[in-house]
Amino acid sequence: MKVTVVGAGNVGATVANVLAHKDIVQEIVLLDLKGDLAKGKALDTWEQSPIDYYSTRLKGTSDYADTANSDVVVITAGIPRKPGMSRDDLISTNAKIVTSVVKSILAHTPNPIIIIVSNPLDVMTYAAYKVAGLDSSRVFGMAGILDTGRYRSFLAEALDCSPKDVAAVLMGGHGDTMVPLPRYTTVAGIPVTELIDDARLNAIIERTKKGGGELVKLMGTSAWYAPGAAAAQMVESIVKDDKRIFPCCVRLDGQYGLKDMYLGVPVKLGRNGIESIIELDLNENEMKSLHESADAVSKVMNTFKGMAIV
Ligand code: NAI
Ligand code: 2OP
Repeated sequence: MKVTVVGAGNVGATVANVLAHKDIVQEIVLLDLKGDLAKGKALDTWEQSPIDYYSTRLKGTSDYADTANSDVVVITAGIPRKPGMSRDDLISTNAKIVTSVVKSILAHTPNPIIIIVSNPLDVMTYAAYKVAGLDSSRVFGMAGILDTGRYRSFLAEALDCSPKDVAAVLMGGHGDTMVPLPRYTTVAGIPVTELIDDARLNAIIERTKKGGGELVKLMGTSAWYAPGAAAAQMVESIVKDDKRIFPCCVRLDGQYGLKDMYLGVPVKLGRNGIESIIELDLNENEMKSLHESADAVSKVMNTFKGMAIV
């Protein structure tokens, strides 16, 4: 199996590094406009292999010919936000980058599975789908695993328990309107609502929604360890055909009453990409929040459509 990661910045280099450690693919190609940056980070990760004990080969490049016949492509190319910016402020720059990267990838690999990471995530994934012309089961985005990871880690901290035991579903767009779902949150099988009071749970939900911004404030740029690990986890489920169930940003075609848009929902992820979309029986309030989130994504999608790139 061959995986290409486009963008060798903070997130892309982390995806490559985490994936190399999993020792589940033969080759990782790390591509960036800045070819030496990609070469350097690929070499650094390769030099780590005898220490951490993996065999994954790595190649850094700026030449798309090196990406030929990739099974999975993770796109992290684009600018991250700075303090004071929202993810949506990135659209004019990142839409052009993401669509041109997708075209360059397809020139060398006709039918890859493409995972988008670049922000604004839901709309960049839609843009990639439009330009790629691939089946929507092969073009999807990473956000839900990261956002759920934040939610789960905050709950583990509040309950003083292992994050391993916290399972949750979070839906919607990758923005402040995302929808964590307490009714689908458990700790070792125990409904979370039996372990924490409403006020503390609501504070955690609010912190989760603004989790990306919290890190931008602390670091002056956006996060990369958890995002990189989340994208690598998606690649793992595909490569190993694990059919794990994750919240991913996928094209909805009537599910949840939403059509021809990308949004985060639970899916089964396997060798063929999105193997199925899971439709939960949401209650009225949950569905209302999901549709509010979809409305927020639609506004950004209209900006993208106005750019007339595809
Ligand atoms: P970064 O600035 O560290 O790295 C981006 C890299 O993309 C740079 O090395 C740059 O040279 C490269 N690049 C730019 N245009 C390119 C092109 N046309 N072809 C190839 N490479 C190109 O940024 P970072 O922190 O890695 O973030 C990358 C993107 O991921 C941002 O848009 C950020 O907002 C997004 N992000 C999304 C998350 C999610 O949950 N979906 C989480 C974290 C970041
Ligand atoms: C995050 O949530 C910036 O989307 C990125 O950290």
